[in-house]
Amino acid sequence: MSSVEVHSQQPESASSLIPTLPGSHYTDTAVFEIEQSRIFQRNWFAAARSNDMATLGSFRSVDVGGESVLIVRARDGALRAFLNVCRHRGARLCLEESGSVRRSLQCPYHAWTYGLDGSLIAAPNLNSMNDVNRDEYGLIGVALQEWLGTVWVCLADEPPSFADTVQAAVAARLGDPDVIDGWRIEDLVVGRRITYDVKANWKLIVENFMECYHCATIHPELTEVLPEFADGYAAQYFVGHGAEFGEEITGFTVDGQSGFETLSGVDEDHDRRYYAITINPQAFINLVPDHVIFHRMYPVAVDRTIVECDWLYTQEVIDTGADLSRSVELFHRVNQQDFDACERCQPAMSSRAYASGGVLVPSEHHIGEFRDWVAAAISG
Ligand code: FES
Ligand code: FE
Repeated sequence: MSSVEVHSQQPESASSLIPTLPGSHYTDTAVFEIEQSRIFQRNWFAAARSNDMATLGSFRSVDVGGESVLIVRARDGALRAFLNVCRHRGARLCLEESGSVRRSLQCPYHAWTYGLDGSLIAAPNLNSMNDVNRDEYGLIGVALQEWLGTVWVCLADEPPSFADTVQAAVAARLGDPDVIDGWRIEDLVVGRRITYDVKANWKLIVENFMECYHCATIHPELTEVLPEFADGYAAQYFVGHGAEFGEEITGFTVDGQSGFETLSGVDEDHDRRYYAITINPQAFINLVPDHVIFHRMYPVAVDRTIVECDWLYTQEVIDTGADLSRSVELFHRVNQQDFDACERCQPAMSSRAYASGGVLVPSEHHIGEFRDWVAAAISG
């Protein structure tokens, strides 16, 4: 089952308005708690860029579904994920969001020491480690997959099929499971990372990303580059459709001037176009000919979400010391414009005026599918 449904054609009637979720779903901490257990703990979660942990012993700790998850590069070169909780008396092992250890993880409380594979390897004052079942007291593992140069983790005991959820969402949007391979996202490197602290519920951010009804109003630079966005139909609205660059536009940059060479795997059909993909519940991918923009969202409270956005380029572009500023600036402005809009809506979510929610116009109807996905997920 794909986690993102998309329309293949425009709706026939423009007369119907369909309801959104009620305001309380964006303000009620009880709803947020249910979402942690029924959405963020049960689904694959885009946690980090694989290369954030490029070297042996490098790690990141990421909050997922109310848990702190530690992702570390183990001795065999593979990435492992664990709950960031010491098995002795529960101290958090790594307080830092990122860092590096030499060859083991030592708890700062009583110095229980774990190998990078999570096994318990030392515990002070225990006469013999033979007294302790190392497997029984090793760190609790978390399911991990790498795809698109991204580490996805899942807290469920039995994670859903990665192919049927994450990969199916991408395939459904692009209309072909293999198209995304052309961007070779796993080989790209982070040219710029910007972290946004957005005072809005995570669902407002997803819903905003899914529609382009707002593009003509708040995204002057983007609609200059992608004139069809001025019509209000998001790229996500049509299966396989990429919004075409305007005639005078030579690159996906803030002034529409040339960016970098088209990635070698991107064919003519996908050149001079922009593709936007939403992967429930918290990843957005934007594909343009010369780079990729990858958003990971980390909901931290009912009214606050951290968004980490990576601009990914070829190693060659980075090695030549190219000026990325015009390239980065376009979507940085789009992000700021979008997040300002989400923050403008958040206070109104607790207004009486929004108690029964708002409405979706036809060009936003695919948001209704996200709404239904959320409603179904939190009800069961
Ligand atoms: Fe970690 Fe005691 S809580 S060693
Ligand atoms: Fe937008």
